[in-house]
Amino acid sequence: MHTLEHQFELGSDAWLAETRRVLVSWTADMDVDFSTSARLTNTPPHLELPNDRADWRISCHGGGVDVTRTFDREADVVVEADYQAALMVAQTIGAGSPSKMTAIERAVAEWLGESAYRRSERRALTSEARAISDRLHDHLGRRTVENPDLAHRAERQGLLNHVREMERDGYTVIENAITADEADLLREETLRALSTHEHPTMQWMLYHGEVFERVVMNPFFMTLVDASLGRGAVIASISAIQRGPGKGFIPLHSDYVHIPEPYPEFSVTGVGVWALEDWTLSAGPTWLVPGSHLKRRGPRPGEAMDGIPIEMPKGSVVYFQHGVWHWQGDRTDPGERVTLHSHFNRGILRSLEPKRVDVQMVNRNPPRLGEALGEDDWFDKIDANGRDYVRFGHMLALNRFNDEQKARILDGSRGSSRSHSSAAVAD
Ligand SMILES: [Fe+2]
Repeated sequence: MHTLEHQFELGSDAWLAETRRVLVSWTADMDVDFSTSARLTNTPPHLELPNDRADWRISCHGGGVDVTRTFDREADVVVEADYQAALMVAQTIGAGSPSKMTAIERAVAEWLGESAYRRSERRALTSEARAISDRLHDHLGRRTVENPDLAHRAERQGLLNHVREMERDGYTVIENAITADEADLLREETLRALSTHEHPTMQWMLYHGEVFERVVMNPFFMTLVDASLGRGAVIASISAIQRGPGKGFIPLHSDYVHIPEPYPEFSVTGVGVWALEDWTLSAGPTWLVPGSHLKRRGPRPGEAMDGIPIEMPKGSVVYFQHGVWHWQGDRTDPGERVTLHSHFNRGILRSLEPKRVDVQMVNRNPPRLGEALGEDDWFDKIDANGRDYVRFGHMLALNRFNDEQKARILDGSRGSSRSHSSAAVAD
């Protein structure tokens, strides 16, 4: 419904049909025998599943394949999960790597609660069956889209108030959007990349390894991007900045450098700054002027403003958008502050960084990465028959749905206030 032809929504009829199709093809000459079953709760309403629940059972047995909409607690592998939590696991490519799957399951538990995703293996699969099952996971994962219902997604992720805050103040903070371990790894890898470089800042960080791909596509962060810039928003630049003690070197400004005033009523640019150490006043955090985006212009020289420093734990992200005013604070702490800046543009704008579509990178990620690299819209595409009307229509429909659901968040008709915490999916 809300996908391109080669993509699927988790648990939809198309997703199950694709499961059956590939299993029939892969196991035709094999004698594998295994079964998996899942029950996902709180499915998005537009999937129109009974009781907002997706059940399925997949079994391969002596060359036969059955895929049914039933839940079987006796299957070899059983998953019981909240839909949004299951989506995070389903979109992680690399099922053959136990450490990768364990890491995402642990992170989901940390973000959304221990009960959000439960997987049990009741009977050990043979190596052949496991290879098929892993291959199926990855095949589907790279075609499984994010939940297009922005309001349902934000509610399940505990981000409804973040979206409202972002509209009111021009920015919001998601605390601990990545785990502390992931933040440490990201800091180490960022410093490693910067050490080979002559400046303390560097762009094109997406292309420095999987840990960067993960943070750029962080599903909580992307909900803010969707809510502010619409679907089809593209990566403008992914930058790293390393700085030591001293005065901040980025003065008060808005990010709408080349946008004529008055700024448009809708947001065209958003930047997420990832804290890879704890941000305190002395660490030299970003300062923001709440509500300054409503002026729809940049700051004038010497203009007085009441900014506030963004204090947040390591692994958190501050996302500011729509021309809100900000500057880099002074650092009195010893040592260095290392940050990663995820800058996105509304899909109708050009990017700062050229987009290089590395087929292997796209292959090891869910479709979201391709969308952020402009693969799912109709810009820069044309063939002998003319424009890509399929992508044009897809992006139009996706954005219409996204906008409708955003309006429901803002007018309060969707969901009550929740915080980004383990309570998000526990009820
Ligand atoms: Fe800026």
